[in-house]
Amino acid sequence: MSSTEDWYFGYCFLDDPDEELTEFLERVEEGKALDIACGSGRNSFYLESLGYDVIGIDMSNIAIDLINEKAKQKKSKVRGVVSDIHDYQFQEKFDIIVLSYILNYFLRSVEQLGTLDKIINHIKIGGMIYVKVPYSDEYIGSVSLKEGMLRSTLNESNWEWEIIYDEVKYKAEDKNYGTYSFLAKKL
Ligand SMILES: C[S@@+](CC[C@H](N)C(=O)[O-])C[C@H]1O[C@@H](n2cnc3c(N)ncnc32)[C@H](O)[C@@H]1O
Repeated sequence: MSSTEDWYFGYCFLDDPDEELTEFLERVEEGKALDIACGSGRNSFYLESLGYDVIGIDMSNIAIDLINEKAKQKKSKVRGVVSDIHDYQFQEKFDIIVLSYILNYFLRSVEQLGTLDKIINHIKIGGMIYVKVPYSDEYIGSVSLKEGMLRSTLNESNWEWEIIYDEVKYKAEDKNYGTYSFLAKKL
């Protein structure tokens, strides 16, 4: 395995679905979900298990080959598409868009390129956005995301939003590092 593959397998390819997604999302009769930077698809397959029709995008061919291979094995309808988050050409609106462990990599470019605006424009009324990032009080990026960036982008949009969950969770043994999760619904 190449070192690039090692990197992806080490950091990106977790198996269990995101804890807060499992806590807060409910089953749906039907719905469309977009899992941005899906990796090998732990959250995509979870969303499908709740009844969503799921597209997962990732800039990595390795990730998308894996998610599509898994989908074939599981007889799943999850579709993996190679795309950079900034270039993704939206063809439709979604009932939920998930950004799990991705905004932390390039907050500034997301702001500058209006990528977050594009994303929230493609959420249906009644649909949700979910963001998860690693969080540390010492890391300005995650602090700015929590303290304002997400809420101000939503506030400046053309819609009202209900904030369903907006919390940092620290590991019991370490109060410096944790995760930040944000779930909001477009009203
Ligand atoms: C830490 S993994 C997270 C995977 C998955 N969302 C999860 O929570 O398990 C980050 C993923 O983001 C992808 N990625 C990084 N930059 C990206 C970009 N600009 N556009 C799309 N995907 C990107 C990487 O290829 C990698 O699969």
